[in-house]
Amino acid sequence: MANVAVIGAQWGDEGKGKVVDWLASRADIVVRFQGGHNAGHTLVVGEQTYKLSLLPSGVVRGKLGVIGNGVVLDPEALLAEIARVSAQGLSVTPANLRIAENVPLILPVHPALDKAREAARGEARIGTTGRGIGPAYEDKVARRAIRLSDLAEPELLSRKLDELLLHHNTLLRGLGADTFGKQDLLDRLLALAPRLLPFAEPVWERLDEAHHSGKRVLFEGAQAVMLDVDHGTYPYVTSSNTVAGNAAAGAGVGPKQIGYVLGIAKAYTTRVGSGPFPTELHDEIGRRLGERGHEFGTVTGRPRRCGWFDACMVRQAVKVGGVEGLVLTKLDVLDGLRTLKLCTGYRIDGEVVRRLPASVAVQERAEPVWEEMEGWSGSTRGARSYAELPAEAVKYVRRIEELVEAPVVLLSTSPERDDTIVLRDPFAG
Ligand code: GDP
Ligand code: IMO
Ligand code: MG
Repeated sequence: MANVAVIGAQWGDEGKGKVVDWLASRADIVVRFQGGHNAGHTLVVGEQTYKLSLLPSGVVRGKLGVIGNGVVLDPEALLAEIARVSAQGLSVTPANLRIAENVPLILPVHPALDKAREAARGEARIGTTGRGIGPAYEDKVARRAIRLSDLAEPELLSRKLDELLLHHNTLLRGLGADTFGKQDLLDRLLALAPRLLPFAEPVWERLDEAHHSGKRVLFEGAQAVMLDVDHGTYPYVTSSNTVAGNAAAGAGVGPKQIGYVLGIAKAYTTRVGSGPFPTELHDEIGRRLGERGHEFGTVTGRPRRCGWFDACMVRQAVKVGGVEGLVLTKLDVLDGLRTLKLCTGYRIDGEVVRRLPASVAVQERAEPVWEEMEGWSGSTRGARSYAELPAEAVKYVRRIEELVEAPVVLLSTSPERDDTIVLRDPFAG
C-alpha cells in the first residue's frame, strides 16, 4: 500500500496541517521528519481549532504520531503543547506518540543564541521564529548535540553539556548576551527526563514493522521547499531540508518508502520573515488577501507578506521536491477579485528565465512576467465538489496545473476539515 509525503511548495503556511489531518483518516501512522516548533499547523474540526507545532497532525484523528530523528525537539515546548491539546480534550501519551531516541534537543541556549544573532544582524536579519532551530541543527552537524537518549545517561549528559556550553557561552558572551550555567541546565534536563523518556524508542524499528505489515504511513513536512536550506532562497531559509527526500533520512526509512509526494500550495503566495518575494503585493489587493486569508503567523503572530501565485517558483518546487500531485488551498480567498495574475517566469537583467537563480542578489532583481486571468464573482467557499466551482475558478486551477507541470489532486475551500474537493486519492499511489 502506498505511503504519502506532504510538503509545502511555497514559503510555508500553505495549509499542510489541514491536509495532513484530512488525509490522516486513511493513514495508520503520521510522522514528522524535519523542523521543530517553528512550524505552526492549524486544524479546524467543527467548533475546535487545534494549533500544532511539534505534534504530528494525525494525533487529532487518534492516529499514532511519530517524531523522527530529523526533527529538533524542544522538550519544554513539547510538554507545553501536550498540555494545551489535553485541555482541548485530546490525549497524548506514549500509547499514541513515539519519539526517535536519537532526536537532537533544543536547549535554552539555542533560542538565546538565535535571538542574539538576529539582533546583531539588524536590518539584515533573517526574521527567524527565534525558537533556536538554526543553532540546534548547527549543534547536530557539529556533533555536540544533546539527544533524547542522553537524558538516561546523567554522566554522559554532564560531560556533553561542558562541551556544548564552552561553545555557546563563548558566542553568547561575544554577542553581549547572558550566558548559561551548567548545573542549572543539567538539573532542568534531569527533571524533564522521566516525563520524556517514556516516549523514546528506535522509531525506525516501528516504521520497518509497519512497512512489512502493510500499514499506511503519512510523512508530514513542515516549512516548505523555498525555505529548504539547500533549495530555498538561501540564506532566508530555515535550517533543515524540507524536500520529500529528507523524509527517509529524517524518519529512518528507505527512500522507496516515502511513497506519493504531495505538494501543498496556496492559490496565491505568502511569506513570513525576510527575503526575496518576486510576486509580493504592496497595494490594496495584498492587504485584502492578508485580511481575507487571515494571514498572520501561527507561531509568531507576525503579518504574512502576500502576493500573486508564483507558478514559476512552484514549478521549481515541484521539480526539486519531487512533487507528483498538488493540493491547492485557500481558493476561496480569491473570491470576488476581478482580475488574477500568475507569474510565469522572471525578467532578470533583460533576460526572461523560468527559474529562480541561486544568488539572493539576483533573486532580488527578478521581475515577474505576468499572465492575467479573469476572476470569478461567485463563491468557492466551502465547495466540496468540482461542479460547485465557477467556470473561471476551474480555468484558474487548470492553468496552474499546466504552468507548474503537476496535476492538482485536491482543492481546499475553507479552513474546515471537510471543505475539501478530491480529484484523485493520493493513497492510490
Ligand atoms: P501550515 O503551516 O502549512 O499547516 O499552514 P497554517 O496552518 O500555518 O496556515 C494555513 C491557514 O489557512 C490556517 O489558518 C488554516 O486554518 C487556513 N486554511 C487552510 N486551508 C484553507 C482554505 O482552503 N481556505 C481558507 N480560507 N483557509 C484555509
Ligand atoms: P510551517 O510548518 C512559515 C520561516 C521564518 C523565517 C525562516 C527561518 O507552519 O509552514 P527559523 O525559525 O526556521 O530559523 O526561521 O523560516 N519559517 C516559516 N515560515 N511557516 C513555517 O512553518 C515556518 N518555519 C520557519 O519566518 O523566515
Ligand atoms: Mg504554518
